[in-house]
Amino acid sequence: MSDAHTNHADLAAWVEKMVTLCQPDAVRWCDGSQAEWNELTQLLVDSGTFTRLNPEKRPNSFLARSTPSDVARVENRTYICSRRPDLAGPTNNWEDPKKMKEILNGKFASCMKGRTMYVIPFCMGPPDSPLAKIGVQLTDSAYVVVNMRIMTHMGAHILKRLEDEASGAIPAKRDGHGHFVPCLHSVGAPLAPGQQDVPWPCNEDKYICHFPETREIMSYGSGYGGNALLGKKCLALRIATNIAREHNWMAEHMLILGLESPDGEKTYLTAAFPSACGKTNLAMIVPPKSYVEAGWKTTIVGDDIAWLWPHEDGRLHAINPESGYFGVAPGTSYDTNPIAMDSMRENCIFTNVALTDDGDVWWEGLTKEPPAHLIDWKGRDWTPADGEAGNVAAHANARFTAPASQCPTIDPDWQNPDGVPISAIIFGGRRPSTMPLVFQAFNWSHGVYLGATMGSEVTAAAIGLKAGVRRDPMAMLPFCGYNMGDYFSHWLEMRGKVTHLPRFFHVNWFRRDTDGSFLWPGFGDNMRVLEWIVKRCHGAIPGHETPIGWTPHFKEFNTEGLEDFTHEDFDKAMAYNPEEWKEELLSQGELYLKLYDHLPKELIFQRELLAARLS
Ligand code: OXD
Ligand code: MN
Repeated sequence: MSDAHTNHADLAAWVEKMVTLCQPDAVRWCDGSQAEWNELTQLLVDSGTFTRLNPEKRPNSFLARSTPSDVARVENRTYICSRRPDLAGPTNNWEDPKKMKEILNGKFASCMKGRTMYVIPFCMGPPDSPLAKIGVQLTDSAYVVVNMRIMTHMGAHILKRLEDEASGAIPAKRDGHGHFVPCLHSVGAPLAPGQQDVPWPCNEDKYICHFPETREIMSYGSGYGGNALLGKKCLALRIATNIAREHNWMAEHMLILGLESPDGEKTYLTAAFPSACGKTNLAMIVPPKSYVEAGWKTTIVGDDIAWLWPHEDGRLHAINPESGYFGVAPGTSYDTNPIAMDSMRENCIFTNVALTDDGDVWWEGLTKEPPAHLIDWKGRDWTPADGEAGNVAAHANARFTAPASQCPTIDPDWQNPDGVPISAIIFGGRRPSTMPLVFQAFNWSHGVYLGATMGSEVTAAAIGLKAGVRRDPMAMLPFCGYNMGDYFSHWLEMRGKVTHLPRFFHVNWFRRDTDGSFLWPGFGDNMRVLEWIVKRCHGAIPGHETPIGWTPHFKEFNTEGLEDFTHEDFDKAMAYNPEEWKEELLSQGELYLKLYDHLPKELIFQRELLAARLS
């Protein structure tokens, strides 16, 4: 049934085999066309999954409400099924690949009965890039198809490219001729003859599985986000980290940002932050008025994932493997992120946000005052009184899926196959104490140490977790597809592959004063920190050595137009407190112990060096 659709023998055979396993009623090869989008979005409207938003307010856009049990990535159901447990490491769930395949073959057997299997050929990254990676996702969710159309390059042109690579008509430049990553996905909700479907089919039993050695992904039971759009976290991070390690590049959970100075000099940087630290906001930063007037410009290449490689020019280059944003909606507004707001004006999918009476979307933080009446993310009537009673109108992890091409500050080179050259790598977290606003690492090895030990501080009262710093090395804890200790070694080894080294920095927008107030205004004013970083990269200003790294002095830090931010405020935001740092050093011990088996000695030395500098 499927072999007529492709001359790629392996692909045809795999699809055929999966059809036999999953038993869909129909198979549809997606071409990625506008007509297909129109047809599938209408199908989703007819089946009750989608509500078409008011075309005058939000053209060609849709709202989906998920089942309340399927609202986010499920880390405890996410597995790295490598040959041995130590290859996955202590921070991943591991299962034996043979055993997991047996379990999954049971789950997938006949799981698509009564449904259509969609075949989605997709490409992560500009297709002509040496790093671009083709995947083929099989899914029984039309919601997934239309999201994948926004988030990836997808359709007939990618299938054609894959076939041409397989036949040798165009040279294969990746790992193998005509290789693709097979991504099998099912919501796990077969329909009996005549059975009425539900708006959001899924299964309470979920498995998000990665097979690093064979480069396969199998995801069962969830229709949501990173569990179901398999190009994103599953391929572009968990599988890609494995490919990157073997082929001397890096797959990272990082935004890519471009900064153009008034004299036209362009500098690109990447940044990794744990979730809920404003990564999308930084990627879409709007500089303060004084900067705009002076001629500074910012552009975005990516907001979530960066693939980096040592380019022939000796520098580290980066591409964004994604074509869209799958951003958190709550908290996003014209005040906090106008660029995101403009990016989602049309052709978007909203999931688990609230619906206004005039057919538009709303979420907490979008406007100061909520509308007088809404339909909440569970489909119930909602009034501000419900909000006061603590019932949110939009789920905290509600999302918008928006095409990156609609972003007003999209970088002209965001689809350049050659990527953009990276001058700085920034790490950061949410740290109420200890970490100054910004400092620069002494060298690559120290920079890797800063990334490896980064994290966010939690207060027990606020979140109900053990108080302390939750380490999230390079923001990759849930996304590294192999042993985190080996991942650090890979980072250290990459030092030898690059001749023009990017500089490393650590930032903290979230430091608090003794009265609990923030010491730094954040948002657009973070541009001031970025300016110092850019100038350091170009050797334009001196840094000042401290036990923790190179820091700015007040006089080198641009505070023009920043009312009420005094020299004293700067010193507070930048303060180095040896007692806090000793605590920091001790608290890193937990992570080191956990990863000890595979932890590179160089990182142990970095911690020793810091101890020596502190004493
Ligand atoms: C994301 C995440 O959704 O990091 O990007 O969880
Ligand atoms: Mn992310």
